[in-house]
Amino acid sequence: MALDQKSAPNDLSAFWMPFTANRQFKKTPRMFVSADGMFYKTGDGREVLDGTAGLWCCNAGHNQPKIVEAIRQQAGELDYAPAFQMGHPKAFELATRLCDMAPEPFEHAFFTNSGSESVETALKIALAYHRARGEGSRTRLIGRERGYHGVNFGGISVGGIVNNRRHFGTLLAGVDHLPATHLPEKNAFTRGQPEHGAELAEDLERIVALHGAETIAAVIVEPMAGSTGVLLPPKGYLERLREICTKHGILLIFDEVITGFGRLGSSFAAEHFGVMPDLITCAKGLTNGVIPMGAVLATAEIHDAFMQGPEHMIELFHGYTYSGNPIASAAGLATLETYREQGLFERAAELAPYWEEGLHSLRGLPHVIDIRNMGLIGAVELSPIAGAPTKRAFQAFLDCYEKGVLIRTTGDIIAMSPPLIIEKPHIDQLFGTLADVLKTLE
Ligand SMILES: Cc1ncc(COP(=O)(O)O)c(C=O)c1O
Repeated sequence: MALDQKSAPNDLSAFWMPFTANRQFKKTPRMFVSADGMFYKTGDGREVLDGTAGLWCCNAGHNQPKIVEAIRQQAGELDYAPAFQMGHPKAFELATRLCDMAPEPFEHAFFTNSGSESVETALKIALAYHRARGEGSRTRLIGRERGYHGVNFGGISVGGIVNNRRHFGTLLAGVDHLPATHLPEKNAFTRGQPEHGAELAEDLERIVALHGAETIAAVIVEPMAGSTGVLLPPKGYLERLREICTKHGILLIFDEVITGFGRLGSSFAAEHFGVMPDLITCAKGLTNGVIPMGAVLATAEIHDAFMQGPEHMIELFHGYTYSGNPIASAAGLATLETYREQGLFERAAELAPYWEEGLHSLRGLPHVIDIRNMGLIGAVELSPIAGAPTKRAFQAFLDCYEKGVLIRTTGDIIAMSPPLIIEKPHIDQLFGTLADVLKTLE
């Protein structure tokens, strides 16, 4: 009788929710039942302004007709094709379009299903690349404190958010970390990239001196650290990381799962900052968050290092059942077309100054100790309640939701990253509501 229902269909207990305070949620659930454009709709019919593009992923907003239609059509035409030793046209087309959109040196795309998988894939490509070139001693991976690279073992090993690591054993061996770039005493309330902190990249020289360059495979950083609470790279920092990596033959990986697809007003942060890594990870905005999909972008140099040996042999022993899934590929193609047709990356760049003004108008409100922004990303850091860190920002999240606005919090930092279709009145609503909430917080 396994198929019998044990409980009512709307029982909340079976679903163990990810990154959620399950007990709190299930006492007072917050449910979205539909979405269109800039707004979600709740079960009780309220509209909630999407101030976070879902989870930094719905860059073209919700219910985009082209994406919806592409998925519908693809499901009826070719639902699934084996990903290994077989192909289907849309995966190839999407890889080509994606590389066209990426900065020049990126000529190849390896498909995954999420940001976390893109990170694992990039780390494995980095290790195997060195081995393929006869430098198999390069096995160390360098991440950064406060970095977020998803939740799989490679990603949490190079990541630097303590709660994401401390519960899960010894993680990968041979990992070291750069210091975080956050210097609030010098850089608080900076608009855009902070002036101070480029020298933190020099720590990579210390790590190289400690371990020996010939043991280090790759450095992975988010060009702008999003999930930890929007930490921007100090001016000159990424350039210096690039120089040191090049000098020592270390690959540089930019984790662009958040910064990809227009968030900073250009296709990728690499283009925005004018610093080229060797590998780029992406996901989220690749399909507008609608269907799970990620990718790793590689330069020809990296890709070609694998293309040797007998031609009937598999070159990279890695891949997923759903790598380049037909429906995800169709969604990806429609998403990239939507970005282009609606000029959404340019739109993000145009709106960024208005966004910055609105965000920084919150300075001086109770508890606000820092404000940071770039492109259509903004963060407001609050002083924590003594003895109850995270509680104040979480209360702000709950209050904003009650007032019809979705924000995100991490620790005591409020992060906002709206769909790039946002209009000025929405920006006013978002920051106006947040201002009202901040005035009433404990
Ligand atoms: C920089 C970065 N890398 C990786 C991930 C993980 O992506 P996913 O949740 O799709 O596995 C995220 C998610 O926010 C991210 O911000």
